[in-house]
Amino acid sequence: MGILDELTKETGVLPETITSLTTEEMESRVREIKLQLGKKLFIPGHHYQKDEVIQFADAVGDSLQLAQVSADNKDAEYIVFCGVHFMAETADILTDDNQAVILPDMRAGCSMADMADIYQTEKAWEKLMEIFDESIIPLTYVNSTAAIKSFVGKNGGATVTSSNAHKMVEWALGEKQRILFLPDQHLGRNTAADLGVSLSEMAVWDPIRNELIYDGNMDCVKVILWKGHCSVHENFTEKNIEDIRNNHPDMMIIVHPECRREVVEKSDLNGSTKYIIETIEQSPPGSSFAIGTEMNLVKRLINQHPDKKIVSLNPYMCPCLTMNRIDLPHLLWSLEKIMEANPENIIKVDKEVSKNAIFALERMLTRA
Ligand code: 13P
Ligand code: SF4
Repeated sequence: MGILDELTKETGVLPETITSLTTEEMESRVREIKLQLGKKLFIPGHHYQKDEVIQFADAVGDSLQLAQVSADNKDAEYIVFCGVHFMAETADILTDDNQAVILPDMRAGCSMADMADIYQTEKAWEKLMEIFDESIIPLTYVNSTAAIKSFVGKNGGATVTSSNAHKMVEWALGEKQRILFLPDQHLGRNTAADLGVSLSEMAVWDPIRNELIYDGNMDCVKVILWKGHCSVHENFTEKNIEDIRNNHPDMMIIVHPECRREVVEKSDLNGSTKYIIETIEQSPPGSSFAIGTEMNLVKRLINQHPDKKIVSLNPYMCPCLTMNRIDLPHLLWSLEKIMEANPENIIKVDKEVSKNAIFALERMLTRA
């Protein structure tokens, strides 16, 4: 590969053969390739993806559903994953060696997953072992690198998603006296609080300062929350809730548990992406909702339910920028590369890492 190709790959700039096409031309070419490849190709799409991509998805779901459908698919040679990097890694871990998982744009990462790296985690574990000895089990949100999933699997823990976090935290607290929850402090705090763990029993691990933040007796700590967050869901505030209460007093406020505790506490309902979608679908015509989650999904729900009044809890909300890296041109480009028998952006998790990460994922999938 030449230097120009390398640069093109790194910056996500596409060749003119793609960029010169109209939207209709791109759509018709994607349709043509899908028809030609048939079952050899599988396109999972996360709910946060843009409509221009979702229209071509063979399965649309949240991170748990996409992990499950990828694990079940034994026919596809190419899984073109329309989501973010950690989801494609999970799909690679769960699929067979002869299946290639492709991420149409390598820049589609997750800022939350980037808030915990394996070196920080190993350092944290060492210190936590000094304080708490063997009484801790690690749990990681699937929004984490494969290396962290592997670390968690090796240490007897499991992955969780927002739709099974309650079940998994309950399980973990039955296994050991306390848990380390990575990397989203808000999902960890909201879930543990729902299960009756008080805020005074929760400590925070600061990975930058490599220290535990807690002011009580260490014996009381039940949950150690990694100090990470989602930069999208952190943008919902108590002020947004107040505004909705003042301007639309009848509106139900429903938020994702990646939002801060104060926001979750003041909302009417909270739950995973799947829960939010199902709640809106099952509500009677005329219902009204202010939703605190990613904007591509909120826009889709608005369009799919013209009989309901739906707004974003934060009127100035943006979509998840990294999810948005996957667009129609990148999808087409990755498919063209498959057609040229030169697939690009294959996500390959190291075998050793995979081996332990599978333990963590399976502990979740058997309970999900
Ligand atoms: P789900 O687990 O609900 O799909 O959420 C994934 C995610 O990235 C939320 O920000
Ligand atoms: Fe990551 Fe947040 Fe985007 Fe989800 S919405 S992929 S947690 S940055």
